[in-house]
Amino acid sequence: MKSEASKVNGGSHPEGSVLIRFWERVDLEDVRRITWETWLATYAAFIPEGDLRRYLDKQYTVQALGDLMASEYFRGLLAVEQESVLGYAKVQFHPDEQRCYLSSLYVIPAAQGKGVGKRLLERAELIAREFGVHEIWLGVMVQNTQALEWYTRLGFAFVREEPFTMGNTTVQHRIGYRPIHPDEFLS
Ligand SMILES: CC(C)(COP(=O)(O)OP(=O)(O)OC[C@H]1O[C@@H](n2cnc3c(N)ncnc32)[C@H](O)[C@@H]1OP(=O)(O)O)[C@@H](O)C(=O)NCCC(=O)NCCS
Repeated sequence: MKSEASKVNGGSHPEGSVLIRFWERVDLEDVRRITWETWLATYAAFIPEGDLRRYLDKQYTVQALGDLMASEYFRGLLAVEQESVLGYAKVQFHPDEQRCYLSSLYVIPAAQGKGVGKRLLERAELIAREFGVHEIWLGVMVQNTQALEWYTRLGFAFVREEPFTMGNTTVQHRIGYRPIHPDEFLS
């Protein structure tokens, strides 16, 4: 049986070996690489690779990511184990809506299922609390059933759908949220 300590610190990862920290400028190439690797594994089954590439080259350039980092309403989180980068999260507060969005959560395929995503989510929720909100919102493509199951299991409620376009392909996005209960956090 999995011990509480191994659950807290990331499944098969040794206790405390995965660090969650803020992005630095030197991380942006890694963020781009993780994005591409994870998109290919997750989205290529329903979005042509050329559309994924076009979107990456528009929204995920080092310049575009650096511009995001400059916003007072943005926080980028990175999951790192020793020298390896395992995943990242983007957290964006929208002052007009008074809502906080987890606009990306990606763990490289080799590191999935080991607690890294959950730790990134929990840290993102602490940031959302710092922005003064009590729930966190996100969008998941309807074809991404694994992620939808994962979020649902973690207590997200999906309340509506919106179109989302990557390159020339438009897919439906399920928009959902989960109330933030800091007392439940294990890490
Ligand atoms: C979805 C994703 C972020 C989850 O991160 P992860 O590190 O793989 O997940 P974790 O290991 O933190 O999962 C923690 C828990 O969820 C469970 N879990 C893992 N995959 C699951 C799934 N598909 N459905 C339900 N539960 C799942 C684990 O067993 C674990 O449960 P436990 O805490 O009771 O032991 C990650 O798999 C990922 O990046 N997927 C591809 C990209 C993607 O779809 N991102 C989301 C886009 S919106």
